[in-house]
Amino acid sequence: MTKDKPVIMIRGDYNVPILDGRVVDDYRLVRGLDTIDKALERTDRLILASHLGRPKTISDLKYSLAPVAAELSKLLGREVVLLNQFEIGLKVKVEDVWASGSIVMLENLRFDPREKANDPNYIMEILRKIGVSSQDLDTLVYINDAFAVAHRADSSVEAGIKSFELERGELMADEVGQIGRLLGEVERPYLAVIGGAKVSDKLQVLESLLSKVDILIIGGAMANTFLLASDHQVGNSLVEPELCPEAIRITQRANDLGVKLFLPFDVVIAKEIGANIPHTNKGIYSVNSQDIILDIGEQTIQTWIKIIAEAKTIFWNGDLGMAEIRAYRKASQQIAQAIASSKAYSLVGGGDTVSLVRELGLENQFDFVSTGGGASLALVSGQPMPGLAS
Ligand code: 3PG
Repeated sequence: MTKDKPVIMIRGDYNVPILDGRVVDDYRLVRGLDTIDKALERTDRLILASHLGRPKTISDLKYSLAPVAAELSKLLGREVVLLNQFEIGLKVKVEDVWASGSIVMLENLRFDPREKANDPNYIMEILRKIGVSSQDLDTLVYINDAFAVAHRADSSVEAGIKSFELERGELMADEVGQIGRLLGEVERPYLAVIGGAKVSDKLQVLESLLSKVDILIIGGAMANTFLLASDHQVGNSLVEPELCPEAIRITQRANDLGVKLFLPFDVVIAKEIGANIPHTNKGIYSVNSQDIILDIGEQTIQTWIKIIAEAKTIFWNGDLGMAEIRAYRKASQQIAQAIASSKAYSLVGGGDTVSLVRELGLENQFDFVSTGGGASLALVSGQPMPGLAS
């Protein structure tokens, strides 16, 4: 360990899906490796930090970053040791880990409410607690590489890092550069395909997107709210009736701006949600009060594929059906394939959507596969990005 080299802390977004204590999709980790490798060329005193999920209490161990530390150790071929900053009377200190030639990883930053509260002192206090010396704190280089959380005003990406020497990581720079292309002049028609469950999550971005795109396709359960708002029956489907006025306003605004807005006109329905429940394709006018809409219908998919073939710029974010159940992945799969084969500049974001694209082996056929879900949507639509402010 060389003390004349700086302490480098990397705030990544290692918020990856974990099942039975193992990382099941390592895309975000793999994309963050460049930044870690470059930092390791500069120092052997490295600290990694991230959030994982949205834990309510510190005792919720399923949100521990231990599986991520194990996976990163494998990917880097170098031990990443989880140093739990919340441990009372912390015995192992940062210098001990570095002395053994390992990299330090902090435990989930969101185990303390100060992270979400954007507390200005939170990060500094963690570093003191794990034993970083005052001298090292004065020269610490803080690399913000957490693009996927850059739309959140959290301490580790905004208020808590202002006193450090700040740098942007490789992944962050790549994301901002690639997604930034969609904020300037783009080839038209510019199509956005937006799926996902809730309008409430995406209300503001949908509205901002309207001033940028020529065509907007809305799928996923989110489309149900728009369908209900235009007086269609959606039965027992996931829907947000209280947001119908907003859906009407967005539809009206699309009209005023000359943006073509497409909703499904046929859907796949079942009477219950489950893997082996019979399902059928129905025109939207035939949906009845017992139906649950679970995917986009075949005719709508074919229409959307034609729209995709004509677009010159495509941004896709969010599943179009209930893709966690294999039977309801058809729309997402076919749309993924259509975008992959189109000649348009194509950018995809969103954890589940990206997992699906990778599962289909299509990631190299997209111009850019973002690690950000909400963050890519926020940046594309011109929403504030607190994590990019410094
Ligand atoms: C994500 O997965 O989109 C990011 O890690 C941000 O997570 P959050 O939505 O819980 O803030």
